[in-house]
Amino acid sequence: MSEDATLILGDKQYRFPIREGAEGERAIDIQDLRARTGYITLDPGYGNTGSCESAITFIDGEQGILRYRGIPIEQFEQAPNFVEVAWLLIFGHLPSEDEYRVFSHDLTVCANLDESMKHHFEGFPRSAPPMAILSAMINALSCFHPDFFELDDQAQFRMAAAGLISKVRTIAAYAYRHSIGQPYMYPDPALRYVPNFLHMMFSQPYAEHICEPMVRDAINLVLLLHADHEQNCSTSTVRMVGSSQANLFASCAAGVCALWGPLHGGANVAVLEMLDQIHQGQISPEDYVRMAKDKDSKVRLMGFGHRVYKNFDPRAKMLASVAEKLLPTLGVKDPLLDIARKLEEIALEDPYFVERKLYPNVDFYSGIIMRAVGIPTNMFTVMFSIGRLPGWIAHWWEQAQTMGNKIARPRQIYTGPTQTDHVPRDERPDRL
Ligand code: ACO
Repeated sequence: MSEDATLILGDKQYRFPIREGAEGERAIDIQDLRARTGYITLDPGYGNTGSCESAITFIDGEQGILRYRGIPIEQFEQAPNFVEVAWLLIFGHLPSEDEYRVFSHDLTVCANLDESMKHHFEGFPRSAPPMAILSAMINALSCFHPDFFELDDQAQFRMAAAGLISKVRTIAAYAYRHSIGQPYMYPDPALRYVPNFLHMMFSQPYAEHICEPMVRDAINLVLLLHADHEQNCSTSTVRMVGSSQANLFASCAAGVCALWGPLHGGANVAVLEMLDQIHQGQISPEDYVRMAKDKDSKVRLMGFGHRVYKNFDPRAKMLASVAEKLLPTLGVKDPLLDIARKLEEIALEDPYFVERKLYPNVDFYSGIIMRAVGIPTNMFTVMFSIGRLPGWIAHWWEQAQTMGNKIARPRQIYTGPTQTDHVPRDERPDRL
């Protein structure tokens, strides 16, 4: 096979090199296209655009494969440990005993927020969306840790990463406690990452929350299955903001905002709302699927479809199986699980979904698990953010290490008016 791609423009031919990734995926390297030809490429939604080379996560959407640093996602199912996966993604290898111990210690010492940050929570209305609080407070961390503005060496970066991963869970729990008018629970240094988070969410000054091992494992799995997904919308946002050399906190705060939307991380909330609507008897599963197929309805089957997966999302399979085991063990009978199963069954046999290769994605079952352990719906996307943070951090760092001073700056095809003259206000037509 030729190592170049040839582009013919009029009577001129241009050759561009082919770049091949570790798993055989191929790209035409057009970095000097505009300089050589005067043309740019147009790819709204970036479905065909590689924005970078990355060694963090591999996805084969056709085969339904997801690997973190080469390790298939399924291999994390038996002993799910979010902290190990965070280290793996950020530093490129599974942590040794010593690395794990040091990183866990870093997470413990970083868990508290500066006391004055508590006043920030008071400034938000009780009804504030937790994603808005999360983004604002991650950004506010920049004010308290100016030492992390310039991360020149790996040790300093490790502390900043640990600080962010640890504090985000405290911020998330405080946002929840504020929304229900309950006192903030300080992190408990004796607890591991997930039990500590659940303690801050659910303990009372008079009663300690006890985290069952099965719940701990389920939440570890939920978090680690969300930990990275290569160049998705929020990760690309983090990379783009980081490319301007904005600090790690500011870049990840932007990632939270990108994740919030219902076509991305916000879909887990939308799935629950959809299931609840069906449960309330407002619409049957069959009618919902019918509506999702009707282009005039603007309704989509939430938790279905993916830009990259044209097969089962492996994360959805794993979460469905956890939901099947967790709910009966906890004694939870959730009618929404039955509705989800029914919707999946209908959609997977419907030619509309089959032809378009629309399968359940990670958001389809994650909400049912979170709901079973008491996490309220408006915190679902916050949970996704906690999970995705190691991925954002890994990409922010990779981008800083590999892209140098190159700011991300796409171009456009301009479609507005050609040159026009300014008109004084009293001569302008009234368009109201
Ligand atoms: N329900 C009904 N139809 C759908 C759905 C859906 N959930 N998803 C895609 N389609 C249809 C589209 O209408 C389109 O049909 P057409 O070819 O007849 O016009 C076709 O499938 C292709 O859809 P696109 O929107 O072009 O696919 P894209 O890759 O851009 O979108 C997305 C992917 C945004 C995830 C989409 O499938 C969707 O909106 N899903 C529902 C929301 C959701 O679950 N988001 C979470 C994604 S996972 C994550 O971010 C963590």
